[in-house]
Amino acid sequence: KRLVVLVSGSGTNLQALLDAVAAEGAEAYGAEIVAVGADRGGIEGLARAERAGLPTFVCRVKDHASREEWDVALADAVAAYAPDLVVSAGFMKIVGKEFLARYGGRLINTHPALLPSFPGAHGVRDALAYGAKVTGCTVHFVDDGVDTGPIIAQGVVEVRDEDDESALHERIKDVERRLLVEVVGRLARNGYRIEGRKVVIQ
Ligand code: GRF
Repeated sequence: KRLVVLVSGSGTNLQALLDAVAAEGAEAYGAEIVAVGADRGGIEGLARAERAGLPTFVCRVKDHASREEWDVALADAVAAYAPDLVVSAGFMKIVGKEFLARYGGRLINTHPALLPSFPGAHGVRDALAYGAKVTGCTVHFVDDGVDTGPIIAQGVVEVRDEDDESALHERIKDVERRLLVEVVGRLARNGYRIEGRKVVIQ
């Protein structure tokens, strides 16, 4: 299966996928990353892709006349690599109608909280501020909401009294990277069906 990964920052989730494919081989893992895209340049996530010898693309909102045109451009940039599955791993933009029309059902996202708790761009900070005792991460299909699509898998992380946002986020990311690698491999190898809010992996 062909994966395109979308990133916006450090790309450690991307790196975990790259390492899994390198360690197991694309055949055994069931998928290979064919390109990495971002909404801005100069980020470590793109450097990781370049070090892995992968094609990259940058699709900046400000380079387009409207958000809708950006959304179409992003879908076109992804389509150039004919992916079977698109993985949003730390991609911090909400895709629109056009992108979902073309990739809905084949687009997954990883979120650093236990959805439906703490959706949005500050899930780790919000869980900490709320005083949650456990939080974690969620891998889910993307639908037309924000972090609201059908859940594929979740991992739980204890919140410690001494945690600040970055310490907690690092601990979440340890679980998140393993969860994402496991989910992507299973979706790619076994195939899946989405039935309402349920995801059935064969
Ligand atoms: C991940 O925790 C992701 O869930 C969140 O931002 C983080 C991105 O980390 N949206 P990285 O860019 O994969 O290192």
